[in-house]
Amino acid sequence: MDISLKGKFALICGSTQGIGFATAKVLATLGANCILMARNEDSLKKAVQQLSTEQGQQHRYHIADFSEKGQIETAINQLVADTRISILINNTGGPKSGPITEALISDFESAFQQHLIGNHILSKAVIPGMKALGYGRIINIISTSVKTPLPNLGVSNTIRAAVASWAKTLSNEVGKFNITVNNVLPGLTETARLTSLIEQTAKIQQSAPHDLEKNMVNTIPMARFGKAEEVANVIAFLASPAASYVTGTSIRVDGGRTPSI
Ligand SMILES: NC(=O)c1ccc[n+]([C@@H]2O[C@H](COP(=O)([O-])OP(=O)(O)OC[C@H]3O[C@@H](n4cnc5c(N)ncnc54)[C@H](OP(=O)(O)O)[C@@H]3O)[C@@H](O)[C@H]2O)c1
Repeated sequence: MDISLKGKFALICGSTQGIGFATAKVLATLGANCILMARNEDSLKKAVQQLSTEQGQQHRYHIADFSEKGQIETAINQLVADTRISILINNTGGPKSGPITEALISDFESAFQQHLIGNHILSKAVIPGMKALGYGRIINIISTSVKTPLPNLGVSNTIRAAVASWAKTLSNEVGKFNITVNNVLPGLTETARLTSLIEQTAKIQQSAPHDLEKNMVNTIPMARFGKAEEVANVIAFLASPAASYVTGTSIRVDGGRTPSI
Protein backbone atom coordinates (compact mmCIF):
# COMPACT_ATOMS: atom_id res chain seq x y z
CA MET A 1 0.00 0.00 0.00
CA ASP A 2 1.48 3.34 -1.10
CA ILE A 3 1.07 5.99 1.58
CA SER A 4 4.25 7.92 0.78
CA LEU A 5 3.85 11.66 0.25
CA LYS A 6 7.49 12.22 -0.64
CA GLY A 7 7.93 15.17 -3.00
CA LYS A 8 4.32 16.33 -2.65
CA PHE A 9 3.33 19.79 -1.42
CA ALA A 10 0.55 19.96 1.15
CA LEU A 11 -1.25 23.11 2.28
CA ILE A 12 -2.62 22.58 5.76
CA CYS A 13 -4.90 25.30 7.10
CA GLY A 14 -5.57 26.03 10.76
CA SER A 15 -2.36 24.18 11.50
CA THR A 16 -0.73 25.84 14.52
CA GLN A 17 -2.49 23.57 17.02
CA GLY A 18 -5.13 20.86 17.40
CA ILE A 19 -6.20 18.67 14.49
CA GLY A 20 -4.54 20.86 11.84
CA PHE A 21 -1.13 20.75 13.52
CA ALA A 22 -1.42 17.00 14.18
CA THR A 23 -2.21 16.58 10.47
CA ALA A 24 0.85 18.58 9.42
CA LYS A 25 3.02 16.39 11.65
CA VAL A 26 1.71 13.15 10.11
CA LEU A 27 1.90 14.43 6.52
CA ALA A 28 5.49 15.59 7.12
CA THR A 29 6.39 12.18 8.56
CA LEU A 30 5.09 10.62 5.33
CA GLY A 31 7.42 12.87 3.33
CA ALA A 32 5.26 15.85 2.34
CA ASN A 33 6.58 19.40 2.11
CA CYS A 34 4.13 21.23 4.36
CA ILE A 35 2.85 24.77 4.01
CA LEU A 36 1.04 25.89 7.15
CA MET A 37 -1.59 28.61 7.16
CA ALA A 38 -3.20 30.35 10.17
CA ARG A 39 -3.27 33.79 11.83
CA ASN A 40 -0.57 33.78 14.48
CA GLU A 41 2.96 34.13 13.07
CA ASP A 42 4.80 33.07 16.24
CA SER A 43 2.74 29.89 16.48
CA LEU A 44 3.26 29.23 12.77
CA LYS A 45 7.03 29.53 13.14
CA LYS A 46 7.05 27.18 16.14
CA ALA A 47 4.82 24.66 14.37
CA VAL A 48 7.01 24.58 11.24
CA GLN A 49 10.09 23.90 13.38
CA GLN A 50 8.46 20.80 14.85
CA LEU A 51 7.81 19.05 11.51
CA SER A 52 9.95 16.15 10.32
CA THR A 53 12.62 16.92 7.72
CA GLU A 54 14.05 13.40 7.63
CA GLN A 55 13.22 12.96 3.93
CA GLY A 56 14.65 16.33 2.91
CA GLN A 57 11.29 18.08 3.17
CA GLN A 58 11.11 21.85 3.27
CA HIS A 59 8.30 23.42 5.28
CA ARG A 60 7.06 27.01 5.39
CA TYR A 61 4.04 29.08 6.35
CA HIS A 62 1.69 31.79 5.11
CA ILE A 63 -0.31 34.06 7.39
CA ALA A 64 -4.03 34.50 6.70
CA ASP A 65 -7.13 35.22 8.74
CA PHE A 66 -9.96 33.19 7.19
CA SER A 67 -12.54 35.70 8.33
CA GLU A 68 -10.98 38.09 5.76
CA LYS A 69 -11.60 37.04 2.15
CA GLY A 70 -8.84 39.33 0.85
CA GLN A 71 -6.23 37.80 3.16
CA ILE A 72 -6.97 34.27 1.94
CA GLU A 73 -6.80 35.40 -1.70
CA THR A 74 -3.49 37.19 -1.22
CA ALA A 75 -1.90 34.25 0.60
CA ILE A 76 -3.06 31.55 -1.82
CA ASN A 77 -2.22 33.58 -4.94
CA GLN A 78 1.33 34.08 -3.66
CA LEU A 79 1.60 30.40 -2.91
CA VAL A 80 0.31 28.95 -6.19
CA ALA A 81 2.50 31.35 -8.18
CA ASP A 82 5.50 29.11 -7.46
CA THR A 83 4.15 25.88 -5.95
CA ARG A 84 1.87 23.12 -7.23
CA ILE A 85 -0.17 21.92 -4.27
CA SER A 86 -1.15 18.23 -4.36
CA ILE A 87 -2.94 18.16 -1.00
CA LEU A 88 -5.22 20.80 0.49
CA ILE A 89 -6.49 20.42 4.04
CA ASN A 90 -9.33 22.88 4.59
CA ASN A 91 -9.53 23.64 8.30
CA THR A 92 -10.01 26.61 10.61
CA GLY A 93 -11.37 27.46 14.06
CA GLY A 94 -14.92 26.30 14.83
CA PRO A 95 -17.89 28.72 14.71
CA LYS A 96 -19.23 30.38 17.85
CA SER A 97 -21.26 28.00 20.02
CA GLY A 98 -24.77 28.62 21.40
CA PRO A 99 -28.41 27.82 20.66
CA ILE A 100 -29.69 28.76 17.21
CA THR A 101 -32.42 30.95 18.72
CA GLU A 102 -29.71 33.25 20.05
CA ALA A 103 -27.59 33.34 16.88
CA LEU A 104 -27.10 36.71 15.20
CA ILE A 105 -27.21 37.16 11.43
CA SER A 106 -23.58 38.22 11.66
CA ASP A 107 -22.70 34.88 13.32
CA PHE A 108 -23.98 32.99 10.27
CA GLU A 109 -22.26 35.39 7.89
CA SER A 110 -18.88 35.11 9.57
CA ALA A 111 -19.07 31.31 9.87
CA PHE A 112 -20.08 31.05 6.19
CA GLN A 113 -17.11 33.23 5.22
CA GLN A 114 -14.61 31.42 7.40
CA HIS A 115 -15.67 27.90 6.48
CA LEU A 116 -17.39 27.77 3.10
CA ILE A 117 -16.03 30.81 1.26
CA GLY A 118 -12.54 30.14 2.63
CA ASN A 119 -12.60 26.53 1.39
CA HIS A 120 -13.90 27.66 -1.98
CA ILE A 121 -11.24 30.31 -2.57
CA LEU A 122 -8.45 27.90 -1.65
CA SER A 123 -9.82 24.99 -3.67
CA LYS A 124 -10.38 27.07 -6.80
CA ALA A 125 -6.81 28.33 -6.58
CA VAL A 126 -5.18 24.89 -6.21
CA ILE A 127 -7.32 22.85 -8.63
CA PRO A 128 -5.54 24.01 -11.84
CA GLY A 129 -2.21 22.82 -10.40
CA MET A 130 -3.76 19.53 -9.27
CA LYS A 131 -5.15 18.99 -12.78
CA ALA A 132 -1.70 19.59 -14.26
CA LEU A 133 -0.19 17.10 -11.80
CA GLY A 134 -2.95 14.53 -12.35
CA TYR A 135 -3.14 14.20 -8.56
CA GLY A 136 -5.21 16.11 -6.06
CA ARG A 137 -6.55 15.56 -2.57
CA ILE A 138 -8.91 18.08 -1.00
CA ILE A 139 -9.85 17.14 2.56
CA ASN A 140 -12.23 19.21 4.62
CA ILE A 141 -12.22 18.95 8.39
CA ILE A 142 -15.85 19.44 9.35
CA SER A 143 -17.77 17.81 12.25
CA THR A 144 -20.08 14.86 12.97
CA SER A 145 -22.87 17.45 13.01
CA VAL A 146 -22.99 16.80 9.25
CA LYS A 147 -24.71 13.52 10.25
CA THR A 148 -26.59 14.61 13.38
CA PRO A 149 -26.99 18.23 14.51
CA LEU A 150 -25.38 18.74 17.91
CA PRO A 151 -26.97 20.67 20.81
CA ASN A 152 -25.73 24.20 21.50
CA LEU A 153 -23.99 24.44 18.12
CA GLY A 154 -26.74 26.11 16.06
CA VAL A 155 -24.58 28.13 13.67
CA SER A 156 -22.02 25.36 13.35
CA ASN A 157 -24.63 22.69 12.51
CA THR A 158 -26.03 24.92 9.77
CA ILE A 159 -22.74 25.89 8.16
CA ARG A 160 -21.21 22.39 8.40
CA ALA A 161 -24.06 20.96 6.33
CA ALA A 162 -23.45 23.62 3.67
CA VAL A 163 -19.74 22.76 3.56
CA ALA A 164 -20.52 19.03 3.18
CA SER A 165 -22.89 19.78 0.31
CA TRP A 166 -20.32 22.07 -1.34
CA ALA A 167 -17.70 19.31 -1.03
CA LYS A 168 -19.92 16.62 -2.56
CA THR A 169 -20.73 18.90 -5.49
CA LEU A 170 -17.05 19.67 -6.01
CA SER A 171 -16.10 15.98 -5.87
CA ASN A 172 -18.54 15.26 -8.70
CA GLU A 173 -16.88 17.89 -10.89
CA VAL A 174 -13.20 17.12 -10.32
CA GLY A 175 -13.11 13.31 -9.96
CA LYS A 176 -12.25 12.80 -13.63
CA PHE A 177 -8.97 14.69 -13.06
CA ASN A 178 -7.87 12.30 -10.30
CA ILE A 179 -8.72 14.90 -7.72
CA THR A 180 -10.60 13.51 -4.73
CA VAL A 181 -12.64 15.55 -2.27
CA ASN A 182 -13.52 14.08 1.11
CA ASN A 183 -14.66 15.23 4.53
CA VAL A 184 -13.31 14.08 7.85
CA LEU A 185 -15.75 14.47 10.73
CA PRO A 186 -14.05 14.57 14.12
CA GLY A 187 -16.01 13.64 17.21
CA LEU A 188 -14.99 14.94 20.63
CA THR A 189 -11.27 15.40 20.21
CA GLU A 190 -8.84 16.65 22.88
CA THR A 191 -7.89 20.13 21.59
CA ALA A 192 -8.21 23.76 22.72
CA ARG A 193 -11.54 23.91 20.85
CA LEU A 194 -12.98 21.09 22.99
CA THR A 195 -11.72 22.66 26.23
CA SER A 196 -13.35 25.98 25.39
CA LEU A 197 -16.64 24.29 24.34
CA ILE A 198 -16.73 22.40 27.64
CA GLU A 199 -16.11 25.60 29.63
CA GLN A 200 -18.79 27.56 27.73
CA THR A 201 -21.39 24.78 27.99
CA ALA A 202 -20.69 24.22 31.70
CA LYS A 203 -21.30 27.93 32.28
CA ILE A 204 -24.65 27.82 30.42
CA GLN A 205 -25.73 24.64 32.25
CA GLN A 206 -24.36 25.95 35.55
CA SER A 207 -22.48 22.70 36.08
CA ALA A 208 -18.84 21.87 36.87
CA PRO A 209 -16.69 21.38 33.72
CA HIS A 210 -15.41 18.07 35.14
CA ASP A 211 -18.97 16.68 35.55
CA LEU A 212 -19.89 17.80 32.05
CA GLU A 213 -16.76 16.13 30.68
CA LYS A 214 -17.71 12.86 32.40
CA ASN A 215 -21.22 13.03 30.91
CA MET A 216 -19.77 13.66 27.47
CA VAL A 217 -17.40 10.69 27.71
CA ASN A 218 -20.38 8.52 28.69
CA THR A 219 -21.90 9.22 25.25
CA ILE A 220 -18.90 7.68 23.46
CA PRO A 221 -18.87 3.90 22.90
CA MET A 222 -15.06 3.91 23.11
CA ALA A 223 -15.40 5.63 26.52
CA ARG A 224 -12.81 8.38 25.91
CA PHE A 225 -12.20 11.52 23.91
CA GLY A 226 -10.26 11.18 20.67
CA LYS A 227 -6.73 12.42 20.13
CA ALA A 228 -5.86 14.88 17.37
CA GLU A 229 -3.37 12.31 15.97
CA GLU A 230 -6.18 9.78 15.54
CA VAL A 231 -8.06 12.21 13.30
CA ALA A 232 -4.82 13.14 11.51
CA ASN A 233 -4.10 9.51 10.64
CA VAL A 234 -7.38 9.23 8.71
CA ILE A 235 -6.69 12.52 6.95
CA ALA A 236 -3.21 11.27 5.99
CA PHE A 237 -4.65 8.09 4.46
CA LEU A 238 -7.10 10.14 2.38
CA ALA A 239 -4.20 12.36 1.24
CA SER A 240 -2.14 9.39 0.10
CA PRO A 241 -1.97 7.57 -3.25
CA ALA A 242 -3.56 4.57 -1.48
CA ALA A 243 -6.89 6.41 -1.21
CA SER A 244 -7.15 6.84 -5.00
CA TYR A 245 -10.78 5.62 -5.32
CA VAL A 246 -12.26 7.31 -2.25
CA THR A 247 -14.12 10.51 -3.07
CA GLY A 248 -17.28 12.39 -2.18
CA THR A 249 -17.50 10.82 1.22
CA SER A 250 -17.63 11.92 4.87
CA ILE A 251 -15.71 9.79 7.34
CA ARG A 252 -16.42 10.00 11.07
CA VAL A 253 -13.57 9.69 13.52
CA ASP A 254 -15.64 9.81 16.69
CA GLY A 255 -15.15 6.62 18.72
CA GLY A 256 -18.63 5.53 17.56
CA ARG A 257 -20.45 8.50 19.15
CA THR A 258 -22.67 9.47 16.21
CA PRO A 259 -25.90 7.47 16.63
CA SER A 260 -26.79 6.98 12.94
CA ILE A 261 -25.41 4.16 10.76
N1 LIG B 1 -11.89 19.33 18.78
C1 LIG B 1 -13.08 18.80 18.63
O1 LIG B 1 -13.60 18.11 19.53
C2 LIG B 1 -13.83 19.00 17.32
C3 LIG B 1 -14.98 18.24 17.10
C4 LIG B 1 -15.67 18.41 15.93
C5 LIG B 1 -15.24 19.34 14.99
N2 LIG B 1 -14.12 20.07 15.26
C6 LIG B 1 -13.73 21.05 14.26
O2 LIG B 1 -12.48 20.75 13.68
C7 LIG B 1 -11.81 21.97 13.35
C8 LIG B 1 -10.45 22.02 14.05
O3 LIG B 1 -10.68 21.88 15.43
P1 LIG B 1 -9.53 21.94 16.53
O4 LIG B 1 -10.13 21.36 17.74
O5 LIG B 1 -8.26 21.42 16.01
O6 LIG B 1 -9.43 23.55 16.73
P2 LIG B 1 -8.36 24.45 17.49
O7 LIG B 1 -7.52 23.64 18.43
O8 LIG B 1 -9.14 25.59 18.02
O9 LIG B 1 -7.39 24.96 16.30
C9 LIG B 1 -7.88 25.82 15.32
C10 LIG B 1 -6.76 26.18 14.33
O10 LIG B 1 -7.31 27.05 13.35
C11 LIG B 1 -6.60 28.31 13.33
N3 LIG B 1 -7.59 29.37 13.16
C12 LIG B 1 -8.59 29.72 14.01
N4 LIG B 1 -9.28 30.75 13.52
C13 LIG B 1 -8.71 31.07 12.33
C14 LIG B 1 -8.97 32.06 11.36
N5 LIG B 1 -9.96 32.97 11.51
N6 LIG B 1 -8.19 32.10 10.25
C15 LIG B 1 -7.19 31.20 10.08
N7 LIG B 1 -6.89 30.24 10.96
C16 LIG B 1 -7.64 30.19 12.08
C17 LIG B 1 -5.87 28.39 14.68
O11 LIG B 1 -4.63 29.08 14.56
P3 LIG B 1 -4.49 30.69 14.78
O12 LIG B 1 -5.17 31.00 16.07
O13 LIG B 1 -3.02 30.91 14.77
O14 LIG B 1 -5.16 31.31 13.60
C18 LIG B 1 -5.58 26.90 14.96
O15 LIG B 1 -4.40 26.52 14.33
C19 LIG B 1 -12.76 23.11 13.77
O16 LIG B 1 -13.58 23.50 12.71
C20 LIG B 1 -13.57 22.44 14.86
O17 LIG B 1 -14.80 23.07 15.10
C21 LIG B 1 -13.40 19.92 16.39
